[in-house]
Amino acid sequence: MSSMWGERIRISIFGGSHTAAIGVTVDGLPAGEPIDLEAVARQMARRAPGTTPTATARRESDRPQILCGLLDGVLTGAPLTAVLENRDTRSKDYSDLKRHPRPGHADYTAFVRYGGFNDIRGGGHFSGRLTAPLVFAGAVARQILARRGVFAASHVLSVGPVTDRSLDPVQPEPALLERLSQETFPVLDPAVRTWMEEAIASARAQGDSLGGVVEAIVAGLPAGLGDPMFDGVENLFASLLFGIPAVKGVEFGAGFAAAGMTGSQNNDPFYTDGSGCVRTRGNHAGGSLGGITTGMPVVFRVAFKPTPSIAQEQETVDLSTGESARLTVSGRHDPCIVPRAAPVVEAAACLAALELMARQGLLTQRRGPRGE
Ligand SMILES: Cc1cc2nc3c(=O)[nH]c(=O)nc-3n(C[C@H](O)[C@H](O)[C@H](O)COP(=O)(O)O)c2cc1C
Repeated sequence: MSSMWGERIRISIFGGSHTAAIGVTVDGLPAGEPIDLEAVARQMARRAPGTTPTATARRESDRPQILCGLLDGVLTGAPLTAVLENRDTRSKDYSDLKRHPRPGHADYTAFVRYGGFNDIRGGGHFSGRLTAPLVFAGAVARQILARRGVFAASHVLSVGPVTDRSLDPVQPEPALLERLSQETFPVLDPAVRTWMEEAIASARAQGDSLGGVVEAIVAGLPAGLGDPMFDGVENLFASLLFGIPAVKGVEFGAGFAAAGMTGSQNNDPFYTDGSGCVRTRGNHAGGSLGGITTGMPVVFRVAFKPTPSIAQEQETVDLSTGESARLTVSGRHDPCIVPRAAPVVEAAACLAALELMARQGLLTQRRGPRGE
């Protein structure tokens, strides 16, 4: 299985939903960076299960245990490894799924790919639980970026038919980004959150689930990061974002809407601001031209499908006989993944941004004993 990513900042995620633990090793981080573990814990808590009515009832503390790479709260430069215990597992809920794959989940494809040897419990390595280590790695990256003036935030742009307004892609308010990056169900318009919660509750009551869109922004990246064709900003971000389970689409800037515009509508005119910086009036480009950052915020939207595990009876096949069968999925599931996915999207964005900066030699190591 390939659960490794990165050239300069390399992450390797391990474990399964019901294994003893899950975790991540992050290699390539600059030595001497202080890491505030309480701030990391706050990011982990935004994604943790069992804390809101719109999430699965599974309860996990998600307090990371750091095995190596951090000494007295400062990165040593050696690989950073963190593990999270799996405690609240109910593996018997999943015993039937090896024969009767869930429509929309990876049970069938994993069965074919791994000859039936894959760990089916809780979705195994395909579980959304594997995004907890990603959030850990992203939370560390976030602190290194913040010291260099780079900030990431996101909000739930839509849940089913309910839509929030969009972020300002040109000049986002730093205070707004700070607020969003701390919330468990980040939205721009608080009234919309209530409607989204109601839509999720109603889908759950009908044994169904909802999908939606997370809109995210990375502000403060300098112009000139990235490369054309296969190593562009969009390629790098998308490679991580498509690693998040249930992601079915990623668009940058105006995205698919750009296809319906004229050139004069879509082009972002250049100007020089008061400090001599080249900027653009709009940001349909989403902060990337030719795969290289423009210096404007990188703005993108990520589409999540509805949670595949739903309580309604569905049609499936019995993989041992090939005959058709009926399946009612048990176990505890998110009726909508999207609110919990927002911090995961931000974590992916932070890692992609850090990788871009590292490739350009912008992660200079701090000097002096213990990073002073
Ligand atoms: C944070 C998060 C939580 C998730 N929770 C569930 C869940 O409770 N039940 C479920 O069936 N799928 C859940 N998923 C989605 C599945 O893991 C995913 O749909 C499945 O692995 C198949 O992969 P694919 O949708 O990318 O094709 C979750 C995904 C994320 C990111």
